[in-house]
Amino acid sequence: MRVLITGGCGFIGSAVCRLAIAEIGATILNVDAMTYAANAANVAPVASDPRYRFLQADVADADAMRTAFAAFKPDFVMHLAAESHVDRSITGSAAFIRTNVVGAHVMLEAARGYWEGLDARAKERFRFLHVSTDEVYGSLGADGYFTEASPYDPRSPYSASKAAADHLASAWRETYGFPAIISNCSNNYGPYHFPEKLIPLVILNALEGKPLPVYGDGRNVRDWLFVEDHARALFAVLQNGRAGEKYLIGGRSEKTNLDVVHTICDALDALRPAATRRRDLITFVADRPGHDHRYAIDCAKTERELGWRPRESFETGLQKTVQWYLDNESWWRPIRERVYGGERLGLQA
Ligand SMILES: NC(=O)c1ccc[n+]([C@@H]2O[C@H](COP(=O)([O-])OP(=O)(O)OC[C@H]3O[C@@H](n4cnc5c(N)ncnc54)[C@H](O)[C@@H]3O)[C@@H](O)[C@H]2O)c1
Repeated sequence: MRVLITGGCGFIGSAVCRLAIAEIGATILNVDAMTYAANAANVAPVASDPRYRFLQADVADADAMRTAFAAFKPDFVMHLAAESHVDRSITGSAAFIRTNVVGAHVMLEAARGYWEGLDARAKERFRFLHVSTDEVYGSLGADGYFTEASPYDPRSPYSASKAAADHLASAWRETYGFPAIISNCSNNYGPYHFPEKLIPLVILNALEGKPLPVYGDGRNVRDWLFVEDHARALFAVLQNGRAGEKYLIGGRSEKTNLDVVHTICDALDALRPAATRRRDLITFVADRPGHDHRYAIDCAKTERELGWRPRESFETGLQKTVQWYLDNESWWRPIRERVYGGERLGLQA
């Protein structure tokens, strides 16, 4: 099984690379442009394996992608490379359009050109999994769930760029018969998570005794999934998903942001006691512009068709995550000091 993975030095992509080498037995080519969000350390556990290859390249570079397909000859593609932070998309949408929309188009075209040249058997087996987000469906009220049939209603520059790419993947299926599959997943958390996102940011600020910023009233709800469970789901979709289908992936773990922050505070107080209770560091700050109220996923189709279930509950996954940050200061310290120190992003001038 030869898998071309894009964005494999990021948070989810690196979990996919580690799983591919350690458990799935795949041979992989990791294509990553190494933006601020990438980290070679994320794939260090598998980088010396003979089944692991790396190419530093931009997914929006058509020549580089055509060459990568011709040289590596994948059976499957998992396209994860993206600009992924909603707050950054509010103040700088151009990079999101370029990587998430133009990059997805370039990947689809490079993959289609390669796929059309395959023999009948390889062509039949080939899949292109476009990894997307539940944010394309917009915001829910107190009730209800997103399903594969939910209408698109993206509200941030980030989710709009991901929605555009989803539509391209669907259109490539309809127009060219190209075997694209789309997965839409809820919020991930876990080890190697870049500390601009809520959970790692709060863990590190709490460890350093800094204020813990909570947007608005903290009542926004997200459905959390442990990143390694997402990586397993992606391989289930790749290997057993039907071409042209969509699969929703979620953790059935709805929490308000405030619940999440409280759980982190309590876990740290137990594991690394400090003079002040971590909950006392919570600071309510101006809300994110256009902050979606609630996301929740009905992943019954993925569970039924693919037999996938998350292994971690939110409580066990979060415990593992907090412990990982405690054990891996050598991973996060250079990021906090040199790449992103935790300052507020995404407020309009
Ligand atoms: N994080 C989540 O909770 C979540 C949930 C659902 C879906 N997703 C999707 O999963 C994918 C991965 O998300 P993540 O959280 O791991 O993101 P991330 O920001 O941690 O990593 C993105 C990776 O893509 C690479 N990249 C960015 N632009 C590139 C380009 N032009 N060419 C090649 N590589 C490029 C970066 O260098 C980085 O390694 C994204 O497509 C995202 O939309 C994320």
